[in-house]
Amino acid sequence: MKLQNKVAIITGATRGMGEEIAYTFAREGAKLILSGRNEERGNAVQKKIREQGGNALFVKGDITSYETNQALVQTCLDTYGTVDILVCSAGLLGLGKLTELLQETWEKTIATNLSAVYYLTSQGIPVMKKKGKGSIVIIGSIAGYKTFPAHPAYCASKGALIQLTKQIALDYGPEIRINLLNPGQVDTPLLQESTKAFPNPDTIIEETIQNIPLKRLGLPEDIAKAALFLASDDASWITGSNLVVDGGVLCNS
Ligand SMILES: NC(=O)c1ccc[n+]([C@@H]2O[C@H](COP(=O)([O-])OP(=O)(O)OC[C@H]3O[C@@H](n4cnc5c(N)ncnc54)[C@H](O)[C@@H]3O)[C@@H](O)[C@H]2O)c1
Repeated sequence: MKLQNKVAIITGATRGMGEEIAYTFAREGAKLILSGRNEERGNAVQKKIREQGGNALFVKGDITSYETNQALVQTCLDTYGTVDILVCSAGLLGLGKLTELLQETWEKTIATNLSAVYYLTSQGIPVMKKKGKGSIVIIGSIAGYKTFPAHPAYCASKGALIQLTKQIALDYGPEIRINLLNPGQVDTPLLQESTKAFPNPDTIIEETIQNIPLKRLGLPEDIAKAALFLASDDASWITGSNLVVDGGVLCNS
């Protein structure tokens, strides 16, 4: 098992990619703190992992609050005694052209996709530094490289993660590795929601698939496998990298 006895905190763990990353990490032996806002879904993910013999604890909270992230790290220390891995997967689209976007939507999107990554990593890094080892996987997006209609807050926040990742990888090596994993279009509720920003919401997914060299949407499992690689010792000489997992769609940009 690639994560035997490793302790990981995963945000956005109640749905989509974060949920799949949780199942994958649990199967590989990791003990998990599952972060999310929806108690019913969080408890269901926790139950499924425990039924399969894994260790998981759901902690409810909105990650746009600094205190929530502080509590996540503290609960992890109280429960498992350490923190080895952070996965920042929670994300928000915050759709709308710049001049039509509510200021509140802009701020919430930046808070979820960018500031929350700062909150959690700034809490987790000192623990890892003291321990002498740690790995952080941040879920970015191809939107960090490529624009989409009416996605200004999303693209800005995901673009900023590229530089944040490189900066903290530079500052916190050699003990801690920090990598950005950039999915393309992956079949989750968030992708379905993104179709609203397009003039052709009913056909955009089919059109998207035609633009993907590998001719299919990504599956949460595709991202979970890459997250496992980056989090594990298999990636022990990789830090500050931007791994794109997109079926080749950026080849079209
Ligand atoms: N689906 C895609 O096509 C795609 C593509 C590129 C990048 N991404 C990124 O992948 C990550 C996971 O997205 P997904 O597709 O699994 O989306 P999703 O909407 O299925 O899951 C995102 C999770 O984050 C949680 N979340 C959002 N705001 C939160 C907050 N303030 N506090 C706590 N939890 C919060 C949601 O409740 C949800 O459980 C996101 O960062 C997203 O930007 C997704």
